[in-house]
Amino acid sequence: MFMALTEAKKNLQKKGFLDMEVDVKLDLFAEIERLKKEKNAIILAHYYQEPDIQDVADYIGDSLGLSQQAAKTDADIIVFAGVHFMAETAKILSPQKKVLLPDLKAGCSLADSAPPELFAKFREKYPDHIVISYINCSAGIKALSDIICTSSNAEKIIESVPKDQPIIFAPDRNLGSYLIKKTGRDMVLWNGACMVHEIFSLEKITKLKVRHPDAKIIAHPECEAAVLQVADFIGSTTGLLKFTQRDSAQEYIVVTETGILHQMQKENPGKTFIPAPPNNACACNDCPHMKLNTLEKLYLCMEYEEPEITMDEELRIAAKKPIDRMLDISAKAGL
Ligand code: 13P
Ligand code: SF4
Repeated sequence: MFMALTEAKKNLQKKGFLDMEVDVKLDLFAEIERLKKEKNAIILAHYYQEPDIQDVADYIGDSLGLSQQAAKTDADIIVFAGVHFMAETAKILSPQKKVLLPDLKAGCSLADSAPPELFAKFREKYPDHIVISYINCSAGIKALSDIICTSSNAEKIIESVPKDQPIIFAPDRNLGSYLIKKTGRDMVLWNGACMVHEIFSLEKITKLKVRHPDAKIIAHPECEAAVLQVADFIGSTTGLLKFTQRDSAQEYIVVTETGILHQMQKENPGKTFIPAPPNNACACNDCPHMKLNTLEKLYLCMEYEEPEITMDEELRIAAKKPIDRMLDISAKAGL
């Protein structure tokens, strides 16, 4: 049985997410479609979401694509099927809209690796540097940054900065090291990382490649340097997906979160995609934060319009500036 609305809201206030039971007989796909129309809501989903969520989404994309959609949508409600920093970015860009996140606890280990108070002190040590931050960070870090980037535009963003201008890159040390190699810029790196992309085992990937010699290794740049070194292609989630569509290989070892395999299989029905193994026996290449969202929570959050992302207006304005710079540079680069 459904709880009364007021009880549901009390639950939300206490727990920050919806844990109500949903009638198992309910056709959630149909209900979500109904709610989209009734409420003029749009569902933006990241590729790491579970397949059912991807299948009801209006737009599925990487962090750049999702930000661009959030900035331009004319929907009244943005339902963000992703993690907190992504929904927060949507709210920063579209403050007049209601932004919902199915589970407020869907955080990000990479964003958590850079607490704003510590980062402010770190930045003070480099007064001549500008700060380029990966979008996987809190609004507090964005407000301390000059330009934001994502894995699909990072090279272009760095190249847009004059060569003699020193740069701090935060929070991902793996992406930062990769970009130092790609751009030849000697950046100061913050020591953060993503728990999912750090867990891949080079040894197991190498053994897998022996068993599948024709498979191409494709990897996300949040992976460690040793893993990136053996990759045939490195790119953002959208970059990896597009590569599998234009490339002639029939088999791929995919070194990123497993959610992306759903679209890869849909787009390339004849090809084989093998998820790269982590360095232990658990399913650690599933992002535990991304996977907190479920179809049930998505439905409940649309029905009750909770949990909602809210933000201090001064912080929002400060965090918006470097995101706007990123969107401008990306548009000029045709991204
Ligand atoms: P992209 O989808 O932008 O490549 O980012 C990957 C990621 O880790 C998101 O949390
Ligand atoms: Fe954060 Fe890594 Fe999960 Fe992406 S995959 S949301 S970077 S913890």
